[in-house]
Amino acid sequence: MTDARQYAPSAHRNRDLIRDQLASHWPASGTVLEIASGSGEHVVHLAPTAPHLTFQPTDPSAEARASIDAWVKASALCKIHPALELDVTAEEWPIQQASMVLCCNMIHIAPWEATLGLMRGAGRVLTSGGKIWLYGPFIREGVETAEGNINFDVKLKGMDPRYGIRRLEDVADVAAGEGIGAPEVIEMPANNCLVSFARN
Ligand SMILES: C[S@@+](CC[C@H](N)C(=O)[O-])C[C@H]1O[C@@H](n2cnc3c(N)ncnc32)[C@H](O)[C@@H]1O
Repeated sequence: MTDARQYAPSAHRNRDLIRDQLASHWPASGTVLEIASGSGEHVVHLAPTAPHLTFQPTDPSAEARASIDAWVKASALCKIHPALELDVTAEEWPIQQASMVLCCNMIHIAPWEATLGLMRGAGRVLTSGGKIWLYGPFIREGVETAEGNINFDVKLKGMDPRYGIRRLEDVADVAAGEGIGAPEVIEMPANNCLVSFARN
């Protein structure tokens, strides 16, 4: 039998760092909606640390969803639902309510429309006070952009001119238009940030 599990080296590097930061920020109850779950390595690493919550992984890619489900099966964790197909730019999302939305490493590897769709959807599904968390690199006003991120931005734009590291202020403007509050930034290693925005 073939094993659909994919391995993302970056997810292995950052999963402990993300888990440690989120440890004191999980919502009291409800569902964590993960956007762009990719290989599924994050959700199986995070879910055991918040056993009071249900996790809903998603990805538009069928291969990614097969990998997520294979990781969940191998981990024998019961509070992770089967991966759902979700492209954030879709008008309808397959889930109506979440107490937290988590999206790692997606908005810079997708066209800007994905950021618009992500915030529009988060504004719809997040319960009041629920937060959307983004992990990845950002360009920030008043913060010198690290050389590694400047080079990464060039590489992303080479892959697709619509990709690129986003200005946090632009993302915050989009969030504000969807009833989501100002960002709170946690600095992370390797020029990344974990950024949270609370639903008003
Ligand atoms: C670099 S991977 C990140 C995967 C995982 N979150 C991680 O950090 O390892 C980017 C993911 O974004 C997903 N993606 C791209 N465009 C998307 C969209 N419009 N809506 C939802 N997910 C999208 C891709 O399918 C892919 O799984």
